[in-house]
Amino acid sequence: MKTTTHPIAVAIDGPSGAGKSTVAKILAKELQFIYVDTGALYRAVGYTALKQGVSIYDAAAVEAMLPSLTVSLGYENGEQRVYVNGDDVTAFIRTPEVSEAASAVSAVPSVRQFLFELQQNMAKTSSVIMDGRDIGTVVLPDAQVKIFLTASVEVRAKRRFDELIEKGMDVTYEDVLSDMIQRDKRDSERATAPLKPAEDAVLVDTSDNTLEEAVARMRALVEEKLV
Ligand code: DC
Repeated sequence: MKTTTHPIAVAIDGPSGAGKSTVAKILAKELQFIYVDTGALYRAVGYTALKQGVSIYDAAAVEAMLPSLTVSLGYENGEQRVYVNGDDVTAFIRTPEVSEAASAVSAVPSVRQFLFELQQNMAKTSSVIMDGRDIGTVVLPDAQVKIFLTASVEVRAKRRFDELIEKGMDVTYEDVLSDMIQRDKRDSERATAPLKPAEDAVLVDTSDNTLEEAVARMRALVEEKLV
């Protein structure tokens, strides 16, 4: 691995359920980089809107909520925590309702602007593996490694369904699949920072890969770029 005094940034973008966070977390541990899950930031904003009774589809109302909001990230035992006005909301942001709210508020340009600096600052002082939708295109356009991780929508829905069932949630595969199709559409068709691979991103489709295979493929890519 190249020795450098500058922090290294690995940007991983892709649709929901592609395995970005699972793979990125393992890789970050192996490489001793900080893992930054930027989806958690949009989830924190979406969660707050739901909690405050703000309509998640009303861009002006969502925007009006921002001045009184502080979102920050922390790490506890190597796990990322997300805080809203100092309160740890990490435990509340993984429900299907918050997924929908996060996707809706993430289409509001002022929300993206609001979270932009926080994301960029994370990469200024530490080597990071950052995952999201616009990391390689907008947040860290100079990242040394850019990967666009994807898988078929059916495979992604099945993975997300298994995850939710394991957490004891009462969901059906059909509902998870239709939510995912809708979120994919909204995330890739929005006007501001839509989900799309950066021109210099490497495309990795993990539909036929186990988790171990996906991690190994990604690690090889990172090493290839940094050696
Ligand atoms: O990765 P995730 O499923 O936790 O993300 C939740 C939502 O946040 C997703 O629907 C799109 C949005 N998001 C985004 O627009 N940009 C990012 N960098 C990360 C997430």
